[in-house]
Amino acid sequence: MDTAALTKYRMYINGQWVEATTGGYFHSDNPYTGKPWAMIPLGTAADVDHAVQAASAAFTSGEWPRLTATKRGALLRRLGDLVTEKSKMLAEIEVRDNGKLYAEMSAQTAYMAQWYYYYGGLADKIEGQVIPSDKADTFNYTRHEPLGVIAAIIPWNSPLLLMAWKLAPALAAGNTVVIKPSEYTSASALEFMKLVEQAGFPPGVVNVVTGFGPDVGAPLVEHPLVAKVAFTGSDATGQKIYEAAARGLKRVSMELGGKSPNIVFDDAHLENAVKGVISGIFAATGQTCIAGSRLLVQRGIHDAFVEKLVAFARSARMGDPMSMDTQVGPVTNLPQFEKILKYIDIAKEDGARPVLGGARATRPECGAGWFVEPTIFTGVKNSMRIAQEEVFGPVLSVIPFEDEEDAIAIGNDVVFGLAAGVWTQNMRRAFTMAERLQAGTVWVNTYRAVSYLSPFGGYKRSGIGRESGQEMIKEYLQTKSVWISTATEVPNPFIMR
Ligand code: NAI
Ligand code: MG
Repeated sequence: MDTAALTKYRMYINGQWVEATTGGYFHSDNPYTGKPWAMIPLGTAADVDHAVQAASAAFTSGEWPRLTATKRGALLRRLGDLVTEKSKMLAEIEVRDNGKLYAEMSAQTAYMAQWYYYYGGLADKIEGQVIPSDKADTFNYTRHEPLGVIAAIIPWNSPLLLMAWKLAPALAAGNTVVIKPSEYTSASALEFMKLVEQAGFPPGVVNVVTGFGPDVGAPLVEHPLVAKVAFTGSDATGQKIYEAAARGLKRVSMELGGKSPNIVFDDAHLENAVKGVISGIFAATGQTCIAGSRLLVQRGIHDAFVEKLVAFARSARMGDPMSMDTQVGPVTNLPQFEKILKYIDIAKEDGARPVLGGARATRPECGAGWFVEPTIFTGVKNSMRIAQEEVFGPVLSVIPFEDEEDAIAIGNDVVFGLAAGVWTQNMRRAFTMAERLQAGTVWVNTYRAVSYLSPFGGYKRSGIGRESGQEMIKEYLQTKSVWISTATEVPNPFIMR
């Protein structure tokens, strides 16, 4: 391979741009061409140790712990400004590395600035309490203090956004951070560090170590100086990380996979519901944790609805993710591409009927890229693997239901509980479904809406903790209770006060 033409990146540790200790590199591919475009430092446990030591030192000494919360907030808002300024550049890097549509990523990187503004604003609004003390001559108050070094482990589907969800509140709370991006999409985190540097964060406050899960992610989670692990990714890896974090009694927050039901009642506005179902499964080529990968349709409208859906999905334009006209781009990486095709085979073997797609896309506009045809299966039983396991691709399972009870039973009958969609014009039904579906997010007559203002996370195996919104900053803080005595005399020391 001619590596001279590839963009060569360095890691960011303790405010320095460095190679891996071993000097090794691995390459990152462009899923649209199927070819490598960048060289990424191949980090190991030694690099993890440098980064965590730097983050730990930055947490305990130097400029960062002495900054007022207001000044920390100002740094975050400055970072938000730089994100706004550079959002197009960041989006281009994301598209080159993970193949998502520029149309989506450019909007996403621009919107991402809001997390830095919001948590920048929140930094100096975290207030303790004065507790009315039941003891004479005693003053008792609480302080909310940072945890220390946060390990942020990021997946490849929306790398910078999912990083922002962790980085912005972690820093606002006064922690320091070591980021481990996905081995498939490391470039954008490294580009982002240029903005962190420019914003003026002291060295060691934010660090990035690149490399593979077992070589970098695992030693990062195990490092004794890491206080908390914030993770987004698969439930299998989440479970491994939870076990490793338990050995060190570390905190975790986890946003894992989903198998979200998108439920269409016969009283729904059907044209809108079709668009909502499409956005739930074919946007982002289905590579999103919130994918509405199970379509539950009320039996009376099943055939007519599927017909409309297939017609709409069939017209989706595939091709170059940089083109603003493209609607379905490639799959981010080769193992994922193969995994999706494997699940399509499993669904066929289990007796599901592909009424659209069901294979690799070989359209000329897809070139040598890793494209899968938008795929719709009917005749799916909720017990089939295609309805139970996260595919993370453009593959929709259609399951008929009879009534509300049936929809709730099928909707909840998975190990996951990240999100759910409901399409109905009946208000009572909307509220009832929103209450009874076991999911961290329920959308009614919309799908795939997220905001920095609103808590996001999973029920059941979809996760632990929440991201975004005011409350969740507590997940990056710990509470200290301070007792101050104004008594002139210490009473009997052998008795608890
Ligand atoms: P993954 O969950 O294995 O990887 C996510 C991150 O964890 C990456 O940065 C990876 O390097 C790191 N990691 C892997 N093993 C680790 C370990 N032992 N300790 C610490 N960190 C570790 O996801 P992967 O392999 O990229 O994709 C596999 C499947 O995960 C996909 O097919 C999809 O179903 C699911 N997924 C779900 C996402 C979500 O947003 N919920 C995002 C990405 C993938
Ligand atoms: Mg890549």
